[in-house]
Amino acid sequence: MAKKYNHKNKAGNLGDVFKHAPLLAAINETLEERKGRKNFKYFDIFTAFPQSPLGSKGEWKQGIGKIRKLPFYGVDEYVSQWHSSISFPERNNPGNYLGSSKLVRELIQKKVSNFEMFVNDYGLKEFTDSEKEFKRFPVSVTNERAQDINLSKADFVFIDPPSIKKGQIYNLEDFKNHLGMLKDDATLLTWFPIIGVSSSRRGGSAKPYSKDCSELLETLKDEKGKTTRIYWGNPSSRGHGCGLFFKGSEKVWKRVGRTIKSLEVLLNDNGKKIVIE
Ligand SMILES: C[S@@+](CC[C@H](N)C(=O)[O-])C[C@H]1O[C@@H](n2cnc3c(N)ncnc32)[C@H](O)[C@@H]1O
Repeated sequence: MAKKYNHKNKAGNLGDVFKHAPLLAAINETLEERKGRKNFKYFDIFTAFPQSPLGSKGEWKQGIGKIRKLPFYGVDEYVSQWHSSISFPERNNPGNYLGSSKLVRELIQKKVSNFEMFVNDYGLKEFTDSEKEFKRFPVSVTNERAQDINLSKADFVFIDPPSIKKGQIYNLEDFKNHLGMLKDDATLLTWFPIIGVSSSRRGGSAKPYSKDCSELLETLKDEKGKTTRIYWGNPSSRGHGCGLFFKGSEKVWKRVGRTIKSLEVLLNDNGKKIVIE
């Protein structure tokens, strides 16, 4: 049986690092664009935990564990905001990594009062402590299957990732349904893992991606939107990485692009070999 997904082992990994600063940029800029509007409905339909303690094991060591030591002077405003939200108070206590819900909530509550937040994770039944934490804020918490959630009223949707089905394989049909529900003026940010095929298993094919990853990338090509991808490890093998897919205004995307660029410069100036395209 496929191992059950547990975000606690993943929190703060390079993929998280790559998604959270652009998420802050996208929300902030979308809010700016809609200043004066009465309500703003934000949906995070794969929410996981508000925060995850960083323990002695976990993928964070290769992600935020390395990155937090970098010189963050002069970085993009949203990279800086995200970085300062992660505290490392004691030498032997790495602290917590904030999940998307809490990160967004902390940003938003400083800025707007008419913000409605919907968080959902079908694991929330098990995560009762997280639920309590969410409920301190005026936030709607659900534990439905993401595919059953109606996004037609959403102003901003964060999809992370496009549905996991047994063993974390993209569920394209659900993802397409979600896309079809969106209002024309909604902003969407989707994070997706890039699942590669190692060169030894490629056989005669030049395709670096697993079948379902290729299908997802094809789907995104057909959609009107923008995609950015980041590769790490051995970038030339296109083995490991993740991507962001964005739908929304050109102005917001441009601003998100500056945040992504700043992350790229910060990481590469400090010896992390990553490729962003
Ligand atoms: C990658 S984590 C989310 C991380 C979070 N957005 C963040 O940035 O901190 C994905 C979460 O989706 C949940 N999940 C997976 N498939 C789901 C589904 N079909 N419906 C609802 N939740 C689901 C898992 O329980 C997991 O906690």
